Amino acid sequence: MRISDPIIVARLAEMNVELQHGAALADLTSLGIGGTTDLLRIRKHESLPGLLKLLDANDVQHKFLGGGSNLLVGDGELPWVVLQLVRPEPDVVLDGSFARVDAAADLGRMITFCAKHDLGGMEGLIGVPGTVGGALRMNAGAYGMQIGSYVREVKLYRAASRTLETLRGDQISFEYRHTSFAPDDMMLSVILELPSKPFKLILEGIRICNEKRRSSQPLGQKSAGCIFKNPPGASAGRMIDELGLKGLSVGDARVSDRHANFFVNAGHASATDMLRLIADVRERVQKNYGVELENEVVVWNA
Ligand code: EPU
Repeated sequence: MRISDPIIVARLAEMNVELQHGAALADLTSLGIGGTTDLLRIRKHESLPGLLKLLDANDVQHKFLGGGSNLLVGDGELPWVVLQLVRPEPDVVLDGSFARVDAAADLGRMITFCAKHDLGGMEGLIGVPGTVGGALRMNAGAYGMQIGSYVREVKLYRAASRTLETLRGDQISFEYRHTSFAPDDMMLSVILELPSKPFKLILEGIRICNEKRRSSQPLGQKSAGCIFKNPPGASAGRMIDELGLKGLSVGDARVSDRHANFFVNAGHASATDMLRLIADVRERVQKNYGVELENEVVVWNA
């Protein structure tokens, strides 16, 4: 979708929102898949209510993009614009055991920054690509921990009330790869309370998690992490592997040889290829195990 109305363009400039025409979502997602649309880069959280009002009044549909690392975007010209926060400097401010973090902060850099100040707890998420906002909205987790356990406060744009709101951690429910945020709420910043731990000990935890991840996941390849959630008490990766589906391909969309719940873009896969592969694997797992796998990856299909 293209914004060409000079009145809207002028209003965006007044709001300090940067308009990039024809951004390729393939360049903004770790899967390297996705069509084109206009990208609106937001420098001030406070401009969001006015911006959303402007878009609504002009029937411009929108989506909020974080780091694009858990996302499968449709092909071609997309029927909505994409909003993304510009990362401020500094993006992490520490106060004792509390870290105030902007949603646009890089998750890995935030973890290492806190570690250098003897604040730990988040070691399991090292190596998970993406922003803190993205990790927060889906309650990212690994190796027995989840980000939700450390959340004390969240500032967000609430789609339902069209206002900026601040929620205490206990007003939010964090479940396995799921939170009580609405799909169109936008994470703006978070206060995490992190346990004190000597830097050396945190580094040791980070090293162990990095090694485990390197040995079991296809880190150098274009992927969106795990495609399916694990069903209760079972492992999607193990089931897909047991069915002998590693290497199964549709075009350049391929079930990883290293971890069967990672589907990689081995070249120039389209969203159509990847969606066909997902549907095919889901069907085979359903047929053989009687289990309906649920997507872990977020799909924005036009
Ligand atoms: N397994 C196989 N074959 C495979 C993959 C896995 O047999 O191809 C087996 C493993 O040997 C292991 C079991 O399945 O016995 C579980 O595998 P793994 O330890 O790799 O964990 P997972 O359940 O597949 C989950 C998360 C990952 C997270 C890891 C580590 C989900 C959907 N996945 O994977 O998160 O990194 O644990 O904690 O919850 C993600 O969210 O995108 C993601 C990759």
